[in-house]
Amino acid sequence: MTTPDPSSAAALLDWYRAMGVDEAIEDAPADWFARAKKARPAAKAPPARDLPQNPPAPAEPRPGFASVAPDEAVMDARERAASAKTLEELERSLSEFDGCPLKATAKKMCFKRGSDKARVMLIGEGPGRDEDLQGLPFVGRAGQLLDKMLKAISLTQDDVYITNIVYWRPPGNRTPTTQEVQACLPFLNRQVELLNPEFLVLIGGPASQNLLGTKQGITKLRGTWRTCEIGGRTRRAMPMLHPAYLLRTPAAKRLAWRDLLTLKDALNTKE
Ligand code: URA
Repeated sequence: MTTPDPSSAAALLDWYRAMGVDEAIEDAPADWFARAKKARPAAKAPPARDLPQNPPAPAEPRPGFASVAPDEAVMDARERAASAKTLEELERSLSEFDGCPLKATAKKMCFKRGSDKARVMLIGEGPGRDEDLQGLPFVGRAGQLLDKMLKAISLTQDDVYITNIVYWRPPGNRTPTTQEVQACLPFLNRQVELLNPEFLVLIGGPASQNLLGTKQGITKLRGTWRTCEIGGRTRRAMPMLHPAYLLRTPAAKRLAWRDLLTLKDALNTKE
């Protein structure tokens, strides 16, 4: 057996802890169900930040924000995206774009986090409360779990580029509407073209369905390499369970771990 280096071992232990593995296996079998019955009922966990637990509170658009007709918005988005020659230009142009209704209620735009040279681009559903405050994708509880998951396969912020299918927070963390996604999609497609990653990781149902053009649920989609055609290039795309879901359903972390290992294998395989 090879001995892992200290930082890989620490990352793996961190991952185990996040998965709820806090006991070593003993020689004699333990009846965990009997022990659990004796234990006091656990306090109810607070809801994960990201996905809506309740219908969203109505959000007030900022005064002076004029709404743009959906078709006009998509046309404008396409023109802006096509004329951006770099990721910086694209971000600047997006910041001047008023065609996504979410901009009216969000505090900050969340364009990206990570490296512009990454081989892996992760695409989530949309910014939540913490992301909206900081202007960066995946920085709340789900983002912290995502970072741990990536670290467990030796990926850091320098190896990945993280964004979302919409760049502004949907009020109450609801799922973005088709109109909101369509308004942002030309920018996302151009972001993929300009970054030119080898692999896409589609985080959660909405990102997977919108980018793969399917209505299939994430539990069916995850775990298998799919293909995503953007800007004339076909890329491999791995749909994965959303870390916000994993926070609420720790037992599903073993599926996410499998998917991460599939990604790691692909990254380590020379084409
Ligand atoms: N969930 C997402 O899908 N994206 C974020 O940026 C944060 C949480």
